[in-house]
Amino acid sequence: MKRTIIRMGHPNLREIAQPYPNDKIGSQELFELIEDMRETLHYSGGIGLAAPQISVPYRLAVIETTNSQSRYGDIPIIPFTIFINPKITVLDSNQSGMWEGCLSVPNIRGYVKRPQNIRIDWLSETGQLKTLNARGLLATVFQHEFDHLNGKLFIDRIQDTTKISFDDEFHLYHQPLEQL
Ligand code: NI
Repeated sequence: MKRTIIRMGHPNLREIAQPYPNDKIGSQELFELIEDMRETLHYSGGIGLAAPQISVPYRLAVIETTNSQSRYGDIPIIPFTIFINPKITVLDSNQSGMWEGCLSVPNIRGYVKRPQNIRIDWLSETGQLKTLNARGLLATVFQHEFDHLNGKLFIDRIQDTTKISFDDEFHLYHQPLEQL
């Protein structure tokens, strides 16, 4: 079932999400939630969705980059994956900037600087411990999605407010100069 994605201003986006309970990993309830998140993500055309964006107050997010090459540039293909209780370790604190958007902040882009070399540790839907190193745009995607689990939006991380743009103006004035 497709769920409603809540938008900036909704207080649920500002809550700190709870760890997903161990005894629910592998449950029918979890698999139904994952299916709903898959449907909602596909319907929206995004590459990531965090549970708080559909008002589910748990630390999990789904990411899929399979069909995103044309829209997001060069990004490794990640098949639909669920990240439960993810943790980020920054491997190199040097930051670089990317233009980000968010399903909860529609039609707006902003330039955000983040570390570009990280490791992620998480649990799969069957409770397996997983790990992955991510660089560049993929590192940004993970940090953006996992920020949602801490009540943060990319808007909060924009340092230079002249680099906030509506989509149309972004394509006209910013993309040729500043997209990496
Ligand atoms: Ni987002």
